[in-house]
Amino acid sequence: MNQLQGETIAAAASSSNLGSYDEAYANFNWDEIEKQFSWYVTGKVNLAYEAIDRHVDAGKGAKIALRFTDQSRDEAYTFEDLQALSNQFANVLHSYGITKGDRVFVFMPRSPELYVSLLGIIKVGAVVGPLFEAFMETAVKDRLEDSGAVALVTTPTLLSRVKRNELPSLKTIFVAGEEIEVSEGIVDYHAEMAEASTDCEIEWVNREDGLILHYTSGSTGKPKGVYHVHNAMLQHYYTGKVVLDLQEDDIYWCTADPGWVTGTSYGIFAPWLHGVTNVIRGGRFTPGDWYNTIQNNKVTIWYSAPTAFRMFMGAGEDIVKQYNLSSLRHILSVGEPLNPEVVRWGNKVYGRRIHDTWWMTETGGQLICNYSSMPIKPGSMGKPVPGIQAAIIDDNGKILPPNRMGNLAIRTPWPSMMRLIWNNAPKYEEYFRIPGWYISGDTAFMDEDGYFWFQGRIDDVINSSGERIGPFEVESKLVEHPAVAEAGVIGKPDPVRGEIIKAFISLREGYSPSAELKEEIAKFVKEGLSAHAAPREIEFKDKLPKTRSGKIMRRVLKAWELNLPAGDLSTIED
Ligand code: PRX
Repeated sequence: MNQLQGETIAAAASSSNLGSYDEAYANFNWDEIEKQFSWYVTGKVNLAYEAIDRHVDAGKGAKIALRFTDQSRDEAYTFEDLQALSNQFANVLHSYGITKGDRVFVFMPRSPELYVSLLGIIKVGAVVGPLFEAFMETAVKDRLEDSGAVALVTTPTLLSRVKRNELPSLKTIFVAGEEIEVSEGIVDYHAEMAEASTDCEIEWVNREDGLILHYTSGSTGKPKGVYHVHNAMLQHYYTGKVVLDLQEDDIYWCTADPGWVTGTSYGIFAPWLHGVTNVIRGGRFTPGDWYNTIQNNKVTIWYSAPTAFRMFMGAGEDIVKQYNLSSLRHILSVGEPLNPEVVRWGNKVYGRRIHDTWWMTETGGQLICNYSSMPIKPGSMGKPVPGIQAAIIDDNGKILPPNRMGNLAIRTPWPSMMRLIWNNAPKYEEYFRIPGWYISGDTAFMDEDGYFWFQGRIDDVINSSGERIGPFEVESKLVEHPAVAEAGVIGKPDPVRGEIIKAFISLREGYSPSAELKEEIAKFVKEGLSAHAAPREIEFKDKLPKTRSGKIMRRVLKAWELNLPAGDLSTIED
């Protein structure tokens, strides 16, 4: 099926936590993993305790937990510091009546305060909702409204994007910044923190109680709230051990923002459940700054994304030689297909293999991966994590033989599987429409050696720079523009970003196509929704292809774009 299947890059001869993949897979038992948590002894569960306080109780309080760096700050926090700070914020939340089950959102650029807030929210048993800092008014409002959030932590700059008068449930906003003007519902974060005790009663919860709500996009409807519970920590811990290969003295850097699931499951939970030093870098991407982060912090494990690796490849080999990257032991990637040439390039230039990992917001943790002890087939996502059963099935649930393309599906359940889609049971059930399986929406095949190969999406979800974008959300914003009559949005293949967003637009009476109008429309989405959701390309059309029931046929738009046959047009309007 694929000429690449024969190529492998052997594992380096170093010891890893996993050891033999086949043995680990065959002998796997989740009960053994449970015994590594303190709840196994105490019966008391809270992920924030397991991630932070447990290490203090074990005498490791003075170890650096967080090294934060951006253009203006360079700070280190020990586990003891994070324990005290998150206790303080938990006390602040309590004093504003926030308790177990409440939804509390965090809308901030990466900063130590973001991580402290998130831990504090979990400590009171509330469900944390992280919002990517680039979100604009509509994106912020949709998520706060759907979740019924009662509180928000933000900064003075981002506060202006919160439409408070349209959000009746949102009672309290903690603003972290200088000289905050306190008023009804607006609280000065730093002033409250300064007054709060560093001791707190952690809210002990059940393993099935809510932990985090990540909004993500599908091909239809508004973004959906993917709800995860404390029990997910089993998967975060185990994959942190065998996929990230976290060991006591590691310095770990995950480049993802906590607004996305990689930035929480593997930017917060997995590293701290293992008590390792976690590097967080704020600010924009430049190859030099990123290599500097590895060099200065002596990063040993680096988890990033294909778009970043492609940009590094584009920046060339010479810049790599200007930095000392010898601390790196293990490199991983997630979020979009990892090109074989990128794996080969990384192997040559960094002298390390890049390990692809596959999973989704809905899965809460890594499911199909490459391991440091297993040969890599460049272009393949790897094999199922021990404890996970993956298969390629047809639309009737029949398991397909090797090398046949079909639905990538996972046997239910597993510890970090989403437990619901907030306010939307029908959407949740769609994923489980074939009994016993979770249907990912991705297509793939498995080769004779059990390696999985990504093929595409079955729906219209766009993946641009590893960020998942729902065409419906973009189209809804586009048609709010006075010039736009109708809009259809697709992902257009792009060598660096994987896909870019392209919008096809028909104009209202009285408007005529122009370059200025394209620019104005793109800006309208950028400022109303978010920069990463704005179309990079716009094409005006007199008419868009629609079904007789009036739905825009993105499939036909895509075929136009790629010069492919449009397929079955029997449902088209005329
Ligand atoms: O299509 C797959 C792609 O990203 C989707 C999940 O996006 P999101 O929920 O935002 O989570 C991203 C990070 C966990 C998947 O349905 N995807 C993710 N990892 C890979 C991938 N596509 C190819 N190869 C991967 N390793």
